[in-house]
Amino acid sequence: MSTLKDVAEVAGVSVATVSNVLTGKRSVSPELAARVRTAVKQLNYVPNLLASGLRSGETKTIGLVLPDNSNPFFAELSCAIEDEGFRAGYNVVLCNTHNKAERAEAYINTLLAQKVDGVLFISSGCDDAILRQLLLHAMPVTLIDRELPLAEPDMILVDNRQAGRAATSYLLGLGHREIACLAGGTDLQPSNDRVAGYMDAMAEVEGAVPHRVMHVDFSYEAGRQASLEILSKPVRPTAIFACNDLLALGVLSGARSLGMDIPADLSLLGFDGISLTSAVSPAIATMRQPVRALANAALESLLRRMSPRDDGQGRRIVLSATLMEGESCAPPRSIASS
Ligand code: RIB
Repeated sequence: MSTLKDVAEVAGVSVATVSNVLTGKRSVSPELAARVRTAVKQLNYVPNLLASGLRSGETKTIGLVLPDNSNPFFAELSCAIEDEGFRAGYNVVLCNTHNKAERAEAYINTLLAQKVDGVLFISSGCDDAILRQLLLHAMPVTLIDRELPLAEPDMILVDNRQAGRAATSYLLGLGHREIACLAGGTDLQPSNDRVAGYMDAMAEVEGAVPHRVMHVDFSYEAGRQASLEILSKPVRPTAIFACNDLLALGVLSGARSLGMDIPADLSLLGFDGISLTSAVSPAIATMRQPVRALANAALESLLRRMSPRDDGQGRRIVLSATLMEGESCAPPRSIASS
């Protein structure tokens, strides 16, 4: 097994020069870099990250634990986090828990055993006990998206209550008064906050009738099934605020299967701003979460918490979602035809 020293000897350079070429930490002349790369290929050299980690006490690896990477929101967020991590010189290891606490625990144990330098954690709603395990091992942790009742870690969040209120106020501003709200599980704080914002906005307008809030899974099929139930009632809403875009896409399908036109018969507004919402027709109005800014803030936070100079104080960083109007909302027929 060739070592860094072997590569340096064959290339006729110092070990530091080889390290700078391989890590990109410092610039090296093209001529020396070429010699190093030739020697690496000739010796079939592969850096031993475990050995360098033991020596330096860091592995330049970050764990990212999230509930469901098949959800485009998490896919887009993990892509942005991986990109920000790579720019900062870290490998990001993705741990998809499939919303299962036991999987989250298994991954946490693996990340601890692999001595990653820090963990970015998106809760699936039932795993604060597992997080305490990380904190017990003094592993730097930053929470994203879903806060937990813990003082130590930083939390990178979106103001979901303000965004739920803005979404509902937009529908009210179009003249809707019969607005239904389709939410995720009650164990998910972001969903609960969006519902609270919906209720805030509805309470401000005379004649606005909050329909029964339906709590279902954050999934396409749950949205489709729920829309068939909501829209088959004799008195049905003229607008639906869906607390994530997968639910909104499901409502689009369910409404269409009932012969309804979006937005002529029903206005539809989602949440997350996944790229799929602009790929369907009509493009679905949505509250876009600032995915790149969330990723940036999360990496900045974790790098600070990994620093030996960290003060150990947990910080809350709260960002805002933005209304993307799309083509799926319009005044209700009663107003449009008057
Ligand atoms: O679509 C998944 C949802 O769960 C998003 O709204 C995100 O905020 C997460 O909480």
